[in-house]
Amino acid sequence: MANVVVVGAQWGDEGKGKIVDWLSERADVIARFQGGHNAGHTLVIGGQVFKLSLLPSGIVRKGKMAVIGNGVVLDPWSLFSEIDKLAAQGVEISPENLMIAENTPLILPLHQDLDQLREEAAGKAKIGTTGRGIGPAYEDKVGRRTIRVADLADEETLDARLDRLLAHHDALRQGLGATAVNRAELRAKLLEIAPKLLQYAQPVWKVMNDYRKSGKRILFEGAQGSLLDIDFGTYPYVTSSTTMSGMAATGTGLGPSAIGFVLGIVKAYTTRVGEGPFPTELEDADGQRLGERGREFGTVTGRKRRCGWFDAVLVRQTCAISGVNGIALTKLDVLDGFKTLKICTGYEIDGTRYDYLPTAAALQAKVTPIYEEMEGWEESTEGARSWADLPAAAIKYVRRIEELIQCPVALLSTSPERDDTILVTDPFAD
Ligand code: IMP
Repeated sequence: MANVVVVGAQWGDEGKGKIVDWLSERADVIARFQGGHNAGHTLVIGGQVFKLSLLPSGIVRKGKMAVIGNGVVLDPWSLFSEIDKLAAQGVEISPENLMIAENTPLILPLHQDLDQLREEAAGKAKIGTTGRGIGPAYEDKVGRRTIRVADLADEETLDARLDRLLAHHDALRQGLGATAVNRAELRAKLLEIAPKLLQYAQPVWKVMNDYRKSGKRILFEGAQGSLLDIDFGTYPYVTSSTTMSGMAATGTGLGPSAIGFVLGIVKAYTTRVGEGPFPTELEDADGQRLGERGREFGTVTGRKRRCGWFDAVLVRQTCAISGVNGIALTKLDVLDGFKTLKICTGYEIDGTRYDYLPTAAALQAKVTPIYEEMEGWEESTEGARSWADLPAAAIKYVRRIEELIQCPVALLSTSPERDDTILVTDPFAD
């Protein structure tokens, strides 16, 4: 059985929500394996819009198991408010359809404080984070001082964890001019939510291995994008988790052989939110047009996204690192009506040609993109459901992308509606 991992192959916001929803209909289990409520996945089902940040997209479908794996950082209060919001939209969530790994680290209000204090202190050098406490929560995880879901079950353990955690945070907060954490208040808040959260807690690694053995189809839902990866992204302007496909295994407790197909989600042009390098960024009328037509505003923070031409160098690189078997190309219709389109095929840095983005920040700052120009198309591609519905120039554009990134198109999405999709290869097929 081919289990599928979905990852964003650019800087996030590639339109993963729709594709994951489309695939989740075919899956039995849908698991998040990294990131937290910094993600923003929009689903449009039968005209109803669902906005998810932390919950796996499969939660909106009946009869599916949604899993939050240990690779995620979880803000319980944000989780409960998301659950309430969905309940108001008619989606029922209970331990019958949601399971959280017992070893998932928590995001606490002190993480959000630290994220914001640091960004303020950094001034112009800020990362441009979502301010949700993601980075500080991962720091505490690898610093071996985090509080995990299972720790809420025992007051003695919780006290010991709080001592260790607050010794660290109070020192940091003092340095940043903030007051110490109110321990009693935090402890009370945690004990208050403990039973509510613990009802979902499971040894996810074990349940997932059982699912695998019994032949259930698992969909691993990546968040953010490959260029925001802590190792391979445009460091330090990245998120604090591993956003590449390999994380699906360690972020849920399955071996890598459980992964059958890696689907990379790729937008037909490029966007990024927050600071950091962006070789093909457009600060002209074309960039403006992409932003307006593509409605490029953040789902989580409402920030305007930076827009630019398709960068084949970066997508080739991320597809290689994640071992992408096929891509889902999204938002092609946003390019309708452009007279000419540009695709970046390589970089020039100090007179040398590169077919990848070098790691050194000093080199990244000097990148000049090498473009290939392609003819645009007048016709609308919105809502196309077969290749025959697409103008010849649009097909040429898609084929050229496949060639340059060395990866085939498995799916083509032509509008936010789930059925407006051209299927080339079913990722779940054996
Ligand atoms: P953090 O994940 O909040 O620490 O933010 C670090 C960087 O990742 C910032 O540039 C954010 O804008 C970016 N980021 C985090 N989550 C997302 C996402 O879901 N989509 C796009 N960008 C994101």
